[in-house]
Amino acid sequence: MNAESQIETRLIDGKAYAARLTAETKAEVAALHERHGVAPGLAVVLVGNNPASEVYVRSKIAHTEAVGMRSVSHLLPGSTGQEELLALVGRLNADPAVHGILVQLPLPTGIDAAAVTAAIAPAKDVDGLGPMNVGLTTLGVAAGPGEGLAGLVPCTPLGCLLLLRAELGTLRGLHAVVVGKSNLMGRPMAQLLLQEECTVTVCHGSTPDVGALARLADILVVATGQTGLVRRGWIKPGATVIDVGITRVTTPEGRTRLVGDVVFEEAMGRAGRLTPVPGGVGPMTIACLLRNTLTAARRALEPGR
Ligand code: GUN
Repeated sequence: MNAESQIETRLIDGKAYAARLTAETKAEVAALHERHGVAPGLAVVLVGNNPASEVYVRSKIAHTEAVGMRSVSHLLPGSTGQEELLALVGRLNADPAVHGILVQLPLPTGIDAAAVTAAIAPAKDVDGLGPMNVGLTTLGVAAGPGEGLAGLVPCTPLGCLLLLRAELGTLRGLHAVVVGKSNLMGRPMAQLLLQEECTVTVCHGSTPDVGALARLADILVVATGQTGLVRRGWIKPGATVIDVGITRVTTPEGRTRLVGDVVFEEAMGRAGRLTPVPGGVGPMTIACLLRNTLTAARRALEPGR
């Protein structure tokens, strides 16, 4: 047996981390309710009937209610126009019972997602995708859930960061390679890792030989939606690999299952730590959404605290 095959890959149990974070959130929701007689309210807006988005939104609504928050859902037809959507966001911004607003992406063609995201009041932008919160994250003012005047950090990269901190302790001095530069994930992830004092390389569709850069990573975060992208040779032995991809594929037997961007079997025995799909990053996204909603509600109800 050579040295490489002796690596025992530790699977990062995102489901367990998320369950702990959600239990804390639930207890704090109850305490907030006791002090103010108000439950945090999260408004979820879905336009059209993208099947993956419908699944995500249903799950977000169920989890919101399970921690004692109030869920307000607006499920709009695909024919909804931008002005109508902006008017709804305006009403939700003005509604004191709504502490968080999430407009599920992607939006149908013809609607300017950036304009809609920018219209959400920064204090209610629990996705952290609007210009104010992106700016705060980029400036390094966004330090984590519930801290001071920090911005609201996008849920998936925040979830990845919490997993990395819990598993590795300090990230200072580590080389992190982020594959993907989306506004939802790659860009904010790179900013958060920079804030942790990592050396950060961001790869994207125009990067030549991503594998050669990935192989240098102590922390490899992959968020492309390309199944099978990350092979064994892309992973530095012992690296921590965070697989953010989540794609439903049909097996030869005709069943469907979820897979990530990393070839799981090839990463086993090579990575030091690895998030599985499902059960890795996914549950943390929702746990962080609930956390951000609690933070937004707490700031609205207890501005001085
Ligand atoms: N679509 C996929 N992930 C997300 C997310 O985290 N937030 C929103 N609003 N839309 C998404």
